[in-house]
Amino acid sequence: MKLVVAISGASGSIYAARFLKKLLEIQGETFLIFSPASIKIFKEEYQTKANTPEEIVNFIIEKWKVENISNTFAFRNFHDIGEDIASGSNIWEAMVIVPCSMKTIGSIVTGITTNLIERCADVTLKEKRRLIAVPRETPYNQIHLKNMLKLDKVGGIILPASPGFYFLPNSLDDLGDFIAGRIFNLLGYDFDLFKPWNPKF
Ligand SMILES: Cc1cc2nc3c(=O)[nH]c(=O)nc-3n(C[C@H](O)[C@H](O)[C@H](O)COP(=O)(O)O)c2cc1C
Repeated sequence: MKLVVAISGASGSIYAARFLKKLLEIQGETFLIFSPASIKIFKEEYQTKANTPEEIVNFIIEKWKVENISNTFAFRNFHDIGEDIASGSNIWEAMVIVPCSMKTIGSIVTGITTNLIERCADVTLKEKRRLIAVPRETPYNQIHLKNMLKLDKVGGIILPASPGFYFLPNSLDDLGDFIAGRIFNLLGYDFDLFKPWNPKF
């Protein structure tokens, strides 16, 4: 599968980290965009010195000892709206924004495309491709709520960073995997990242 994956500056680096960890092991091609805010927050939340998108992916590979890397990760510049993926003439099947800040959702739904994440989201929607956004904020104000509704109405999918607890998570990684697994479900994959609800438990 050919994907665009964007990491924006909401809290919840764990969701990006666990999604990317699994994605590395899957055959495919991925274009990655990290916003500057996402790097700042990743550094805080993982207490790492990793300072660039490449260093963050290496951090993920080393932290969880990812061995079977089958995906090709290609990094694209957040500030360069002239990158190849800024145009719908390049085909990708879906875009995932994980986590997705309220600022990025707000920009997308108003058609403002001043950086590559926003532009790719705009292209994904206009080309009627799948756009999955994983917002994280609490509490929500009405601007956030209206923007999320608007994104749903124009064809995006809101997958809130709200992990379930019915699968009895043992760790933060388990919570990250629940959200990563739900993203993969929407992309058509069924991995064993969490136990689906079973009333017999
Ligand atoms: C430590 C920290 C945590 C943040 N957490 C959130 C958050 O959970 N949700 C959110 O919408 N914005 C959050 N923000 C604010 C965004 O980072 C800010 O709006 C930024 O401009 C988003 O830009 P981007 O979407 O281009 O990454 C946080 C900022 C910082 C410094």
